[in-house]
Amino acid sequence: MASSIPFPHQPISENPFPSTIVSSSSVSSHIGRSIGLPGVTSRVFPLRVSRGSSGKVRAAEISNQTRDSTNLRSVDLQMTEVPLLSSSEVVERLKTYQENRKSTQHYLAMYSSIFGGITTDPAAMVISLDDHMVHRGHGVFDTAAIMDGHLYELDQHIERFLKSASMAKIAPPFDPSSIRNVLIQTVSASKCMRGSLRYWLSAGPGDFQLSPSGCSTPALYAVVYQDQSPPYKKGVKVITSSIPMKPPQFAIMKSVNYLPNVLSKMEAEEKGAFAAIWLDDEGNVAEGPNMNVAFVTTDKELVMPYFDNILSGCTAKRVVVLAKKLVKEGRLAGIRVGDITMQEGKMAEEMMLIGSGILVLPVLQWDEQIIGNGKEGAVAQELLELIQEDMKAGPSAVRIPIPY
Ligand SMILES: Cc1ncc(COP(=O)(O)O)c(C=O)c1O
Repeated sequence: MASSIPFPHQPISENPFPSTIVSSSSVSSHIGRSIGLPGVTSRVFPLRVSRGSSGKVRAAEISNQTRDSTNLRSVDLQMTEVPLLSSSEVVERLKTYQENRKSTQHYLAMYSSIFGGITTDPAAMVISLDDHMVHRGHGVFDTAAIMDGHLYELDQHIERFLKSASMAKIAPPFDPSSIRNVLIQTVSASKCMRGSLRYWLSAGPGDFQLSPSGCSTPALYAVVYQDQSPPYKKGVKVITSSIPMKPPQFAIMKSVNYLPNVLSKMEAEEKGAFAAIWLDDEGNVAEGPNMNVAFVTTDKELVMPYFDNILSGCTAKRVVVLAKKLVKEGRLAGIRVGDITMQEGKMAEEMMLIGSGILVLPVLQWDEQIIGNGKEGAVAQELLELIQEDMKAGPSAVRIPIPY
């Protein structure tokens, strides 16, 4: 069990959750989503709302778009008043929401420098709406895997995290070793032996301005979660992304601005693929929305694109180190980090996606092109085994034990 955090016990902000009320001069407006009431199925139906004489918001009219005899729930909601809740009612409703939440992911612990501690209650794992990361995307994040009670490549991920923070002009609230200590203690408190640790540095809460000058203290948040979705067993199909990739200045930092990445993933899913691959301005392979890409050429060279204009993947860099074993054993002719065009990539013997979430995932088809013989390649399989072994029994530089 984690010992208590030696610092900072007190909330950074004296008023960590300011009761900011956004007022609107108009008496009538549209709500584009369902009103989240415990027990009411979450659905999307635009409502026209207006204020009753009591000042409470009343759903008065349903737009034509949803006036549909099959949409009985929306008719129910026609007469539903939006309640004004006390803080304890909000907490109760958040608890109910978390209990009813259906997901393969379970949230085990959260740290927030705003409340200055760790909670294991998912209903309390909240951050403020006026946090500059929430309403302006002014935050950076990173993720490290928890494997058999150890954090894998934690220091490598923290190094990238702090570089991203510096590029986003966010001064961390604590020094690097204190951040590391907080992260380790959060995993310890979660009792999680196998899962993920995700953490954010934000310009912090303050106000709704564009400038972060009103955000008095940057914030550190971290969450430990367990994902129960089944592991990837088979190779996947990818497409070429039609969503423009981020310019290098933004692609090399892991900021929370993942809209291009999300749209790219959605484009892939809409086309029955696992991921969409970005090409740079010269037509060279760049990366996927949350993974790097590598190839094995017909002359058995492992090729990975330069990291200059894309995210410097911790897993991909570790794969480059581990792959040296395959070169020694004669199963790879060499390893090269350099340019590779889409045409060269499509003609490769093997293609694979690499990242902390997927580890090494073979690609069997890119657009209409079958890669190699259309089967999971031997090198991808061996690299997956090497990285799995490294996670379980690698050197201390990549495995940080958690003191539970
Ligand atoms: C855009 C992008 N590229 C590559 C990666 C792979 O990085 P890592 O291996 O450190 O997970 C990620 C990871 O989230 C990513 O978001």
